[in-house]
Amino acid sequence: METIRTVAWMKERARAARREQRIVGLVPTMGALHAGHLALVERARRECSPVYASIFLNPKQFAANEDLSRYPRPLEADVEKLTAARVDGLFLPDATEIYPAGFCTYVQVEGLSERLEGRSRAGHFRGVSTVVMKLLEIVQPHFAYFGRKDAQQVRIVQQMVRDLNLDTETVVCPIVREADGLAMSSRNAYLEGEDRKAATVLYRALRAVESEIAAGMRDSLELQRAMHKMLASEPRARVDYAEIVDAETFEPVVRVERRCYGVLAAYVGKTRLIDNMLVEPTGDDLRVEV
Ligand code: PAJ
Repeated sequence: METIRTVAWMKERARAARREQRIVGLVPTMGALHAGHLALVERARRECSPVYASIFLNPKQFAANEDLSRYPRPLEADVEKLTAARVDGLFLPDATEIYPAGFCTYVQVEGLSERLEGRSRAGHFRGVSTVVMKLLEIVQPHFAYFGRKDAQQVRIVQQMVRDLNLDTETVVCPIVREADGLAMSSRNAYLEGEDRKAATVLYRALRAVESEIAAGMRDSLELQRAMHKMLASEPRARVDYAEIVDAETFEPVVRVERRCYGVLAAYVGKTRLIDNMLVEPTGDDLRVEV
């Protein structure tokens, strides 16, 4: 696997592949790779050649009080994982390569970026859309791979791609979970001792909604109540939000009849975790994907 550190070289490599009529895939990450990231790589490998992964711990999507300084950076292990997964190239720029002195242009997806995660994490999505725009512009992949784990992020990227006429198709991959249901996340490394066990409460809250839906409940207030009840049962957890929202607008819905997400964010100890479930109408029934 080739490591590519400059924008110029990354552009050159991807451009050469496109000239040869090859299908270029990109998997953007911030590193500290786990099976969730690797599932994106595997999907990309099935559909594209070459596959590029990027590792860039994007400072612009972290607020000043957030965990940028302590975010895990196990670069050697990441390189090993990507090599084993047969990624063709790792785009590994440093911060000044992406944001040279004087950088002042940002992408803002209005509305969608202000709700839920955006409300709790000021400026977060502006940082995400700006860096993803740059990555898509640098690599110009045919396909870019994202996890449904970050459902609102995916929706924002898709809106940006549409609004700015980018020639990339976004591919959304399912949430990869630990054996006990906890959604894999680089931030799970922060969870120590009892907090690790308590963290499964997010998953348990989603499962509680799933059983309510299976029992016929469609009223989102009732479904939200089920989530809050489960979250409240875990003394180490402090809920940030737990809502049923429209899958397009991320606005609250009254009844679960269209495509929706159950989304939640909670602190377990000092660690902030997010998770979600997708609810989709299929004929006259609902399909739930946790
Ligand atoms: P990061 O958190 O490293 O995640 C990179 C990609 O992996 C994202 O698309 C994310 O949704 C996906 N992912 C993470 N955990 C997953 C899981 N358990 N199952 C499936 N997919 C999972 O998301 C980011 O980085 C950044 O915001 C980025 C898009 C790279 C922009 O900086």
